[in-house]
Amino acid sequence: MSDEPHLATNGDRNGRLLSAKHLVLIGLMGAGKTTVGRRCARRMERPFVDTDDVVVALCGMPFTQFFAEHGEPAFRELERQAVADVSASPTPLVIACGGGTVLDPENRRRLRATGTVVWLQAPVPVLANRVGAGADRPLLAGDPLRALTRLEATREAAYDATAHTTVDTGSLDVDDVATAVIAAFEGFDA
Ligand code: S3P
Repeated sequence: MSDEPHLATNGDRNGRLLSAKHLVLIGLMGAGKTTVGRRCARRMERPFVDTDDVVVALCGMPFTQFFAEHGEPAFRELERQAVADVSASPTPLVIACGGGTVLDPENRRRLRATGTVVWLQAPVPVLANRVGAGADRPLLAGDPLRALTRLEATREAAYDATAHTTVDTGSLDVDDVATAVIAAFEGFDA
């Protein structure tokens, strides 16, 4: 355990000391960031934050509506603000990032500097199966499988550049993935 001052620690219910860095989850839509993040937060006794929820709070409307009325660049602007806000939290958080947060270099820098970043991965057909018709996900409108295939190809390098470590969620049992994520988080920080 580091004794650097910025790495203050907190304890979980077993009395272990955990890093005060945020646990940050990234990955494509359908990777399980929100579901797994909530589970990890409960187990780690940390608050959970989803950047999509922060965007909704900032714009005051469902982000699908915001997307439709103002477009993706305006959405990304709010998302950048959301990442800045949550990553600045002095309380260690579990942060689920919207799938596109890693496209922005400033987001990548902040997330890596303040958190341990875990990339949740799954094969595209599995992701497509999980998101179904893609309701509430404007970038998946029409043909989610095709859209996710394209997004994976264009974003892979950005996920790779942001992640400290990866966890496979292909056969998603939420508890097992949460266990693997927490182990990766602790292992990376050790
Ligand atoms: C997006 C992912 C969504 C949401 C928005 C754009 C993306 O979040 O931020 O629809 O660009 O991948 P989830 O990954 O939580 O679905």
